[in-house]
Amino acid sequence: CGIVGYIGKQAAIPILVNGLKKLEYRGYDSAGVAVLDPEGIMVTKSVGKLVALEEELGTDYSQSSIGIGHTRWATHGRPSYLNAHPHCDCGQNFVVVHNGIIENYLELKDGLLEKGHHFVSETDTEVLAHLVEDYYEGDLEDAVRKVLKTIHGSYAMVVLSRKDPDKLVAARKDSPMVVGLGDGEFFVASDITAILNYTRQVYILDDGEMVVITDDGIKVTDFEGNPHTKEIYDVKWDAVAAEKGGYEHFMLKEIHEQPRALKDTMLGRLEEERVVLQEVDLTLDQLAQINKVYIVACGTAWHAGLVGKTLIERWAHLPVEVDIASEFRYRSPLVDEHTLVVVVSQSGETADTLAALREAKNRGARVVAVTNVVGSTVSREAHDVIFTWAGPEIAVASTKAYTTQLEGMVLLGLYLAQVKGTLLSDKIGGIINALKRIPAQVQEILDQESLIKELAKSFVKVEDAFFIGRSLDWAVAMEGSLKLKEISYIHAEAYAAGELKHGTLALITEDTPVIALATQRDVFDKTVSNVKEVKARDAKVIGLTYKGNTSLVKSVDHVIYIPETLDELAPILTVIPLQLLSYYVSVARGCDVDKPRNLAKSVTVE
Ligand code: G6P
Repeated sequence: CGIVGYIGKQAAIPILVNGLKKLEYRGYDSAGVAVLDPEGIMVTKSVGKLVALEEELGTDYSQSSIGIGHTRWATHGRPSYLNAHPHCDCGQNFVVVHNGIIENYLELKDGLLEKGHHFVSETDTEVLAHLVEDYYEGDLEDAVRKVLKTIHGSYAMVVLSRKDPDKLVAARKDSPMVVGLGDGEFFVASDITAILNYTRQVYILDDGEMVVITDDGIKVTDFEGNPHTKEIYDVKWDAVAAEKGGYEHFMLKEIHEQPRALKDTMLGRLEEERVVLQEVDLTLDQLAQINKVYIVACGTAWHAGLVGKTLIERWAHLPVEVDIASEFRYRSPLVDEHTLVVVVSQSGETADTLAALREAKNRGARVVAVTNVVGSTVSREAHDVIFTWAGPEIAVASTKAYTTQLEGMVLLGLYLAQVKGTLLSDKIGGIINALKRIPAQVQEILDQESLIKELAKSFVKVEDAFFIGRSLDWAVAMEGSLKLKEISYIHAEAYAAGELKHGTLALITEDTPVIALATQRDVFDKTVSNVKEVKARDAKVIGLTYKGNTSLVKSVDHVIYIPETLDELAPILTVIPLQLLSYYVSVARGCDVDKPRNLAKSVTVE
């Protein structure tokens, strides 16, 4: 969900709505704004996209210069008008927007009901507005502070009150929040993108910080009221970088940005036979103490971790487990001070990944993060950080973040091997050379776009598809399958090619599309045998292999060629045609490519 707040001299509503539009990529099901008018708090809400809210607001909207806005992604209570934020108290004196979850809200709600409070929604957020009302004794800041001491959970919230009409009070715990500094005006938002059109000077709030914003300035304190001094963070992002730049969808634009993103991510990190990771500071002595690596992440980032496992095991000779963050945190993992935990997260704000990071730190592990967002919570809490320089990723389905995460895995694998001395420097040099060629090779694949667009046509009416491969091809098959599911709503499964005959082969019937990845040289012949198994059941097979390999073409219906590279780097190339395929299938099926149903870009709740 997204939050925007404004206090200044301009009409707040257009600023709030524009800000919320910039946050649309986070996914939402309803939206609303509240401003303070002489008659009181004016709340406007709607279910669905922001255009519906704009229609509701019309042209004759309030000119109030203080307000808050929100896009909601349902957690407590289904998507509905009543559940949409902002939420008010009984007396309509306080209004709140909130991201996150108030874990003890039912208990608090019961107490408030006993006191005679009346609730209109099923949300945990509404409890906040009533709590502020309950605690208010003439000072909004004090009331909010008392609320913060009463609630448990995660939140970024902003409160506005008609009783304290020139003030916004905001607080954060486990959910991102920034304050924007303008010229005689201030902004508050869950995401920098929301306010980038207005200011580049921000305070990034830390967990446990509260901020009181008036026309005259900003006061940041902890929850006890002790003042905090904040440094201004100057946002370097180009606003244009966050717009579609001529492409029909953000996803297509982001697919095409990959050569640039991959080049940026290796910038300054490659010497002839050495990788330089300034942000990671692991000595040989420290590494000698490490006997196990965990890679922990969600979704696409988890798929990048699966590739990372093979690279680290192969190059640095360390055993690696890859875990889904929501599983890791609850299964008492065998993590201690001899464990290196690598968390991978595009946003750096995914609640489960963050919880896994904290769990790992509690158990004494050294934590390295691979993330795309500077200033994100993950980046600030990990011991070491490898930033991917993909730039803002707007489309919900991850593309450039994934390939740069793969690159991050390559860099980390090489770095660990280099420190441990498990790879000779000329071998590292060879991998570095191959890595440097990758951005141009990605471009070569992108140049085959029309061919893939053509292939996508045959998927329009498809209900099920399979992706198969062995070793690293299998890891990429999972990502290819996820992409197709996410944006075209076609049921897809990824299978280790050798595992098909243990059950799934029963699902392969005439014309079932099977995408077979066959790059890994050590298992290539085995994969071809598996392709023959599905061909024998009349599947329609699209093969993917290196240019110059003429043996696959005989066993499949179509072949997509990728430029030759080292097997360890092949995932960065093989995923590109799969991204394009999913994209064009989604477009051909008329789906909402950038904002697939029920999905959110950044999941900041458990
Ligand atoms: C959401 C997104 C996925 C993403 C996952 C992890 O589910 O829809 O595309 O892979 O979160 O996000 P992160 O920001 O931690 O990489």
